[in-house]
Amino acid sequence: MPLLIRNGKVVTSTDVFKSDIYCEDETITRIGPRLEAPPSATVIDAAEKLVFPGFIDPHVHIYLPFMGTYAKGTYLTESKAALAGGTTTLIEMICPSRSDEPLAAFELWKSNAAGKSACDFTFHMGATRFDALAESQLKEIVSAGLSSFKIFLAYKGAFGVDDAELFAILKLAKSLGVIVTAHCENADAVAAKQRELLAEGKTGPEWHEPSRPESVETLGVQHLTAFAAIHGTSCYIVHTSCEPAVRAALEARARGTKVWIETLIQYLILDKSYAELPDFEGSKFVMSPPLRDRSNHRFLWNNLANGSISTIATDHAPFDFKGQKEMGRGNFTLIPNGIPSLEDRMCMLYHAGVKTGRLSLNRFVDCGSTEAAKLFGLYPRKGTIEVGSDADLVVFDPQHKRTISARSHLMAVDYNPFEGMTIEGRVETVSVRGKVMVRDAAFVGDNKHGRFLKREPNHF
Ligand code: URP
Ligand code: ZN
Ligand code: ZN
Repeated sequence: MPLLIRNGKVVTSTDVFKSDIYCEDETITRIGPRLEAPPSATVIDAAEKLVFPGFIDPHVHIYLPFMGTYAKGTYLTESKAALAGGTTTLIEMICPSRSDEPLAAFELWKSNAAGKSACDFTFHMGATRFDALAESQLKEIVSAGLSSFKIFLAYKGAFGVDDAELFAILKLAKSLGVIVTAHCENADAVAAKQRELLAEGKTGPEWHEPSRPESVETLGVQHLTAFAAIHGTSCYIVHTSCEPAVRAALEARARGTKVWIETLIQYLILDKSYAELPDFEGSKFVMSPPLRDRSNHRFLWNNLANGSISTIATDHAPFDFKGQKEMGRGNFTLIPNGIPSLEDRMCMLYHAGVKTGRLSLNRFVDCGSTEAAKLFGLYPRKGTIEVGSDADLVVFDPQHKRTISARSHLMAVDYNPFEGMTIEGRVETVSVRGKVMVRDAAFVGDNKHGRFLKREPNHF
């Protein structure tokens, strides 16, 4: 059924203009004033509203076996939550354990999403080991439509790779034109610091941040970028939390290394004092790299605004407070790492970024959608509003006020890190390839519409 969005203020990464948008057969076919539509068309009145391209979350975990448990939620729940927050495409991290074969992991993660996702999806392929078998299977996976790898310098013994593997994976990626996304923390330094703190009787969640200080993350960034420079591989530092780590990446970029930077909505809004909340409440705010001192906020916002930080993601990794975060009572190193935010990323960014004047509307779209599409081989199919692009559209009411709460969110987790915050701006209508999936801020779609997006390597 055709879709006409009327009278909206259309925002792309470069333009803001009043227009109608007409969509047929999954794509945008006309953009302009006073467009006609057949009686069969769904018509959405967007007067006084903003119309954005569907947002892309480039760093999400849905199926995540991790730290002795599994992240909460499935595609059935989390893809609806994504859409309620305006995210029409998510990129999930495939995180196999070191004993798993890459191809089997790729098939498993794909089967978890197939037929269950309301939004479109693709994956970064976790390269958690390197040997002849892994090499040939990683090549096969790239041919099957994944054009980015994920490596972990942290989590030794689980997902982490050693330096010989790091060297080989970056070399392979360069030869295939694949970008390598990387979790940068020095694993040995973290392990040593954890042991030291526990031996001193420092066991609560407030000790998570001191166990992985900013210097340890910065060291990870320096390590990764030095290795990437050897081969000229494109790399993308995920969840960058603090000024020194961003500076390390920018220094590498100034030396000619092809490096891009992601930060998370959590790092822009929350800070380490949340992990210090009493009665183990702090465990809700344990993730890695940790929430930092508030003094980092200004630097992160400024560098997101000027484009030095390319993208804003969530690293959505939900673990219930009850029964999961509680696994780490008495030992902070056993608290499952992760903070849910898939549903709230773009509304929080609008409220704290656009409304306050920290971010322009264009940059809001750029960091929340366009940059990720360009970096990960989805542009211009995704990430923009152009004739020929997929009809992924978000109609946004910039005036609507509401209070965030776990009682009303769609994510399958028992708390919300932004609980009680009153924000301005609401996602009202969302289409995915021309099908209306959210209307009047309620999910009206189905869990079969989402499609696996094949991506071509574009980092030669
Ligand atoms: O704490 C985090 N970030 N949990 C999810 C796994 C990861 O490191 O991305
Ligand atoms: Zn990570
Ligand atoms: Zn992650």
